[in-house]
Amino acid sequence: MGYKIACLPGDGIGPEVTDSVIEVLNAVAEKFQQSFEMSKYLIGGCAIDATGEPLPQETIDACNSADAVFLGAIGGPKWDDPNAKVRPEQGLLKLRSELGVFSNIRPLTVFPKLLDASPLKPELLKDVDFVVVRELTGGIYFGAKNRGEDFATDECRYSIQEVERITKVACEMAMQRRKILTSVDKANVLETSRLWRDVVSRYVAENYPEITLEHQLVDSCAMKLIQNPSHFDVILTENMFGDILSDEASVLAGSMGLLASSSLGQGVGLFEPIHGSAPDIAGQGIANPYASILSAAMMLRWLNLTKEADAVENAVQQAIANDVLTRDLDATSSVTTKDATLAVIEYL
Ligand code: NAD
Ligand code: IPM
Ligand code: MN
Repeated sequence: MGYKIACLPGDGIGPEVTDSVIEVLNAVAEKFQQSFEMSKYLIGGCAIDATGEPLPQETIDACNSADAVFLGAIGGPKWDDPNAKVRPEQGLLKLRSELGVFSNIRPLTVFPKLLDASPLKPELLKDVDFVVVRELTGGIYFGAKNRGEDFATDECRYSIQEVERITKVACEMAMQRRKILTSVDKANVLETSRLWRDVVSRYVAENYPEITLEHQLVDSCAMKLIQNPSHFDVILTENMFGDILSDEASVLAGSMGLLASSSLGQGVGLFEPIHGSAPDIAGQGIANPYASILSAAMMLRWLNLTKEADAVENAVQQAIANDVLTRDLDATSSVTTKDATLAVIEYL
């Protein structure tokens, strides 16, 4: 019996890093006698070009009948006209909401070899190991939008139930780790944040008394993330703050090209690097594929293919330890996406 993986390459470097994932999964299949049935479907700008829609029904159906979904990245300057009726990003948001994947898990580890790849001092980065749990299907991303003659609005809405279910995910994760939960909001200004803070406080006190819960305002959290990153264990936050803080956190690791994620709900899981389509380097074959390959490892783990997931993660670690670094991690390097992918396969 094989696993059905819907692959959504998307735009820019999306197709390049998706090909890396397909190659690595094919190698995993061979080594571990598994089988992955991987087919590609349209999403984002390329889907708009081909069908007029950023998320065609065929793609939704394929994702719903798959065991897991891998997404490369969507978007780019070609579709960036602020007055455009359809945008690639709508496709991704619709996919997340169709799949009901309300929890976006974004782990951040610093590879010892890469202490110098970050602009921050190495001594700050030692022992950094946290995970951002980002609410993914609510908040300002999904509220009513309105554009008037001389104004625009974006509604931000959260229900108690939406906050509780993501809090539970973060708590379960904290219980497996250092049991320190940092909930991030803007409760000094936003009503949704005051609801968030109330619900998180009550939920943790009632259900997870062993967890040390702290609340931080998002502005000072952004500062502390750089000032004292090893303090953090599990960061729980709403949709937009999680988006922003996780890109900031990628600087600790050394590159956006390293951060993986899983997006989970009740049904099929979606696995995506946190980075975008990187239009500045697209088409050159130099994108860092590790974020995507590590996302595929998260997929394998979620599919209960633990040996396989461990092997892929170890292989990426080995490739990094052996200096197989694309240009985002080493400005003098000529390592291509393909080279890095082949190195991972070799170390499997
Ligand atoms: P980006 O993440 O695409 O790029 C930011 C910077 O990081 C760029 O300098 C880029 O070259 C670098 N970078 C990102 N991934 C890399 C990789 N794997 N290897 C090497 N370098 C990498 O962010 P942006 O430029 O703000 O956005 C570009 C487009 O991507 C926009 O249309 C945006 O909407 C879209 N986007 C999509 C997703 C997604 O599909 N999940 C996520 C973020 C942004
Ligand atoms: C991400 C991206 C998306 C988001 C965009 C492209 C809709 O930035 O996956 O982090 O904001 O969620
Ligand atoms: Mn983002």
